Amino acid sequence: MTTFLIGFMGSGKTTIAQLLAEDFIDMDYVIVERIGMPISTFFAEAGEGAFREIESQVLEELSQNEGVIATGGGIVTSDDNRRILSNAEAEIIYLKSDFDTLYQQISMDTTNVRPLFIDKSREELQEIFETRAPLYEEIATQIITISGKTPEEIIKEIRR
Ligand code: S3P
Repeated sequence: MTTFLIGFMGSGKTTIAQLLAEDFIDMDYVIVERIGMPISTFFAEAGEGAFREIESQVLEELSQNEGVIATGGGIVTSDDNRRILSNAEAEIIYLKSDFDTLYQQISMDTTNVRPLFIDKSREELQEIFETRAPLYEEIATQIITISGKTPEEIIKEIRR
């Protein structure tokens, strides 16, 4: 069985994946290994389009895998990616939150340099969030509202 964690930046996909399975796969990490540089550098040098192509390739490959996979927040923007996820007969868990909470989380995260956070204004990011929110909902097999919950509470809810 494959479990994909989906949701906007700052929703804690990697943290939750880590707690669900020690040997989880982080898609952004796989991409960084493949491109040989940080995602922010790749965005600046090759552009977002090139990043999305690699992201789709990696998703296609990983959809054959078993286990827990944390995706990048932009995974749902491509029709093909949504088709791959829906056809994978996997569990797709959407870590849902409101934009203000997510924005605060992203702002506080100093370990993760996110190109969209650097390049876009708060208003632009909110627009991206509003475009993506229904797409996460559309493909999710389970929706977990994360605001105000600890990672442990979220894990309990997923396992229930
Ligand atoms: C992106 C989210 C990032 C990463 C890239 C693009 C996005 O992943 O894939 O910076 O478009 O939302 P996280 O959701 O893990 O931050």
